[in-house]
Formats: sequence, structure tokens, C-alpha cells
Amino acid sequence: MLARKLFSQILILFCLAAAITAQAQSLPNVTILATGGTIAGTGATSTTTVGYTAAKIGVEALIDAVPELKKVANVKGEQVFQIASENMNNEYWLKLAKRVNTLLSQSDVDGIVITHGTDTIEETAYFLDLVVKSRKPVVIVGAMRPSTAISADGPINLYNAVLLAGSKEAVGKGVLVTLNDQINAAREVTKTNTSTLDTFKTPELGYLGYIQGSKPFFYRQSTRKHTVESQFDVSGLDQLPQVDIVYGYANMNPIALNAFVAAGAKGIIHAGVGDGSLNNTVLPSLVEARKKGVVIVRSSRVGQGIVARNGEADDDKLDFVVSDTLNAQKARILLMLALTKTTDTKEIQKIFWEY
Ligand code: DGL
Repeated sequence: MLARKLFSQILILFCLAAAITAQAQSLPNVTILATGGTIAGTGATSTTTVGYTAAKIGVEALIDAVPELKKVANVKGEQVFQIASENMNNEYWLKLAKRVNTLLSQSDVDGIVITHGTDTIEETAYFLDLVVKSRKPVVIVGAMRPSTAISADGPINLYNAVLLAGSKEAVGKGVLVTLNDQINAAREVTKTNTSTLDTFKTPELGYLGYIQGSKPFFYRQSTRKHTVESQFDVSGLDQLPQVDIVYGYANMNPIALNAFVAAGAKGIIHAGVGDGSLNNTVLPSLVEARKKGVVIVRSSRVGQGIVARNGEADDDKLDFVVSDTLNAQKARILLMLALTKTTDTKEIQKIFWEY
């Protein structure tokens, strides 16, 4: 009698183990790379939504706070670094990109989620969009409220990011950014509000889609080169060329521009007023910089629309490049990577029209 009872208990345990294994095998394997930000932030009280400290909570705590992750993926976590994202820099980007590419080359990794501060998500996303060598999903996620706040958005954003990174729908779409149930493309996404939950938008060109009821829905996709179509490869790089941004405004002067050039900038992004217009006070310094071999890209502070070549300046004569629709912070990233390949401005202009 005892033996029969023991046998049936062992059988039940065996069946349970088999069921758990079967479920795990049916779920995608998603690695979460944590970098800091508000999603890992803590505040003094449950109503502290400003004046909190970012980058305090580790990746395991983030995962433990969302047990539902286990229903949509087999999740592993790595703390690649722990920073507030206003401190993001080229060295962190190279470290992150190399780790992402190593993981995605493994057959036991189906997708990656990167938790990140929202201040520079749009830049990290575009950098990775240009250097990730895989069609597997890479999804960047953040939060606008710290983990200690009432209705913190981090947990649901992380849940959505993991299910998106494990989805077939996200394969081949390039690097994606998801917060607030919305899906944005890396090339165009930008932070549009300093503090609201719906801050990430793709103005005019629009979201790629939404996440609703634990399922991603896509309605369009990027038409520009990214990931496996990209010519850029950071595997052998341990630094990136210095490219700086000068901001256009009424009564502008060339002091900042001249300082960047004197400090050795290899490229300058000019975030001009309107359609990338150049103030007369800075044009001579831009011409001088070009003569020294600095590549000049005319972008716009406006944020939307095409910066027309030979529109507000004679780019052919000045040998300048135009940024197409890339805002200044995104144009800086593309120019940095372009300069790892060429200093030929005709080649670089072609790159701005392809990516
Ligand atoms: N310090 C900002 C950052 O790490 C907080 C903003 C956020 O993550 O939402 O980007």
C-alpha cells in the first residue's frame, strides 16, 4: 500500500516536471541587460515622481518584481552597468553593443531587452539599430516613474518589453523602444515630454504599433537600413570619432563651434533654425572647420521634416552634408559611425540618405 502511494507521488512529480520542462521549452529565451535609469530608481515616498534617485535597483530585483515574466519567456538578467542615462557615453555604448551581439549569436537567446534611463533611450536605441548584427528582437525599455511610486510604469513596461522581445512579430523590425503600450522605431523615436508616461513618440511618422492584451500589433515598419543591412561594425572598435553638436538660435556666435574644432572634433552637427539655416556669424567658422577636414552636417533644431540639400545653404559649394530627417542627436550617431568607414562627404551624404 505504502509502496503504491509512494509510486503514485513519484509519478505525479515526474509528470509535473515534464510539464514544466515542456512549458519552458515552448517559451522564448529572453536576456534582460540592465543599465540603470528610473525603471531602477527609488524615491523617498510612494508619491515621489520627481526628485528620486535613478539607477538604484539591480536586474534580479527588477525581474523578481514581475513574476508574470515567467509566463511569456524564460528570462535571464545581466547588470551591464548601473547609471542614470544622462551619463551615457560612447564607451558604455560599445560595451553594450558588443554584449548584445555576443548574446544574439547564441542559439539559446531569442531576444534581448535593455532596461535604460529615458533621457537617452532614443540615442542608445539608434546606435544599436546601426550596429546590432542580428534580426532577433532588441527592445529598449524604461520608465517615467521610479519603482517605489504609486502606479509605477516600470513593471508593465518591462513585461511588455519581454513579450515583445520574445515575439515573432518583432523579428527583423530593427531595435524597438516600448513604453506605455506603444512600439516605436529606433530611428525616429524621441522623448517629447519631460515627465509624462506617454513621452516617447514618433511625431508625424507615427508609432510602429501597440502592445495590447499581452500581444504586439504592428502597422508599419522602418524603410531605412538597420541591423543586418548595416555596414557598421563595432566589434573591433574601442573608441568612436568625436562628433559634437552646435545649437542654432537668434544672436548665435561661433564660440562653442570653434572650441569643439580646437578640441579635435572630427565632425560637427549644426542643429540650425528652420530648415537647417546657418547664422552669418558661424558660417565662416564652419567653412574654416571644413577646410581642416571636419565633416559638417546640417541638421535642424525643429525636429521634424527633411533638411533640404542646397536649400538654406549651398551644400555642394560648401561641401556640407544634410541630415535628411534625423534630429541632431541622431545625426551625431550616424556621423560618428560613418566616420569609422569614410571621410568622403559624398559617401557620407549617401549614408544619410540610406539609413
Ligand atoms: N536620470 C534620468 C535617466 O536616467 C531619469 C529619467 C528616466 O530614466 O526616466 O534617464
